[in-house]
Amino acid sequence: MITLEQFIADRQQELESATGAFSKILRDISLGAKLVSFYLRRASLAGFLGEIGITNVQGESVQKLDDMANRLFINLFSKNPHIAGIASEEEEHIIPTHPEGRYVILLDPLDGSSNIDVGVPVGTIFSIYRRVSSIGEPCTEADFLQGGRHQVAAGYVLYGTSTLLFYTTGRGVHGFTLEPAAGEFLLTYPQVQMPTKSSYYSFNDNQLHEWSEGLQRYVTDLHARNRSSDKPQSLRYVGSLVADFHRNLLKGGLFMYPGTVKKPEGKLRLLYEGFPMAWLTEQAGGKASDGYQTLLDVPAKKIHQRTPLFLGPATEIDRITEFLRNHVSVEAV
Ligand code: AHG
Ligand code: MN
Ligand code: MN
Repeated sequence: MITLEQFIADRQQELESATGAFSKILRDISLGAKLVSFYLRRASLAGFLGEIGITNVQGESVQKLDDMANRLFINLFSKNPHIAGIASEEEEHIIPTHPEGRYVILLDPLDGSSNIDVGVPVGTIFSIYRRVSSIGEPCTEADFLQGGRHQVAAGYVLYGTSTLLFYTTGRGVHGFTLEPAAGEFLLTYPQVQMPTKSSYYSFNDNQLHEWSEGLQRYVTDLHARNRSSDKPQSLRYVGSLVADFHRNLLKGGLFMYPGTVKKPEGKLRLLYEGFPMAWLTEQAGGKASDGYQTLLDVPAKKIHQRTPLFLGPATEIDRITEFLRNHVSVEAV
């Protein structure tokens, strides 16, 4: 059995500037994940469910567990001298921490908040960059807006039937399972590859009528393919990006959260949902786009910028782009 710490240490020599800083950041993420997992599984016993009565920068009501996870990770990262700053879904502005730190981290502390009170899996998503601003100075927004291809690490924690931690540093995707008896994440999914055949498709079809003509034609085509297939794809959508993504990563499947006529930029956030999940998808052999271009190439302009998000096997992602390009959407004319 290989622990997460051992796995990172064994590969530390592969990482540039193997100062150990990076492994200490992943260790803080792993500690935060263990603690969040502990509180989540007791939430309904400890009166930890429900809202705290404030609305966040996203315009969403903050759940008690959103706030707990956010504060817990910020406290952990603020004590790590290798981290120069933090950006969180729950924080309007970036949080400069250690001016000597060489890395910055972006965080969706609790993803899938609408599912917290009903026992459906939720997650944490993280994305790490080497800073570009001067060491010794406070970090700046530019450190967080470098663009998806400049990430040095990205991953997620899934608080599901077990607590899983999956991450990439650009050398494949590796998954670990928390062994509560030992309090350790153990390697259980080395070098994950997304199956090229899609078994699932995940989207919220309550907006289908608001999608572009091209995308609606893609869905009609998908249903037609299913009718004539002896192994039709199944619709699976739980409303937690991490849970929907993780199932599709292991079994092969398309996840999409498109834009609509009213909200062409979609709902999901580019920097701490889109970029990390897109990099993981590519590292596992899949493709990620905003419908038209590779997602990792989408220019990052604002910390809480939203993006349409398409993640899955290359065949499905390419097919979607084909339908979108060949059927110019009504609103685009
Ligand atoms: P968060 O809880 O961090 O705000 O993220 C929720 C996101 C994502 O997890 C999920 O894919 C999506 O919201 C579901 O949105 P709908 O409920 O609109 O389908
Ligand atoms: Mn989220
Ligand atoms: Mn969230």
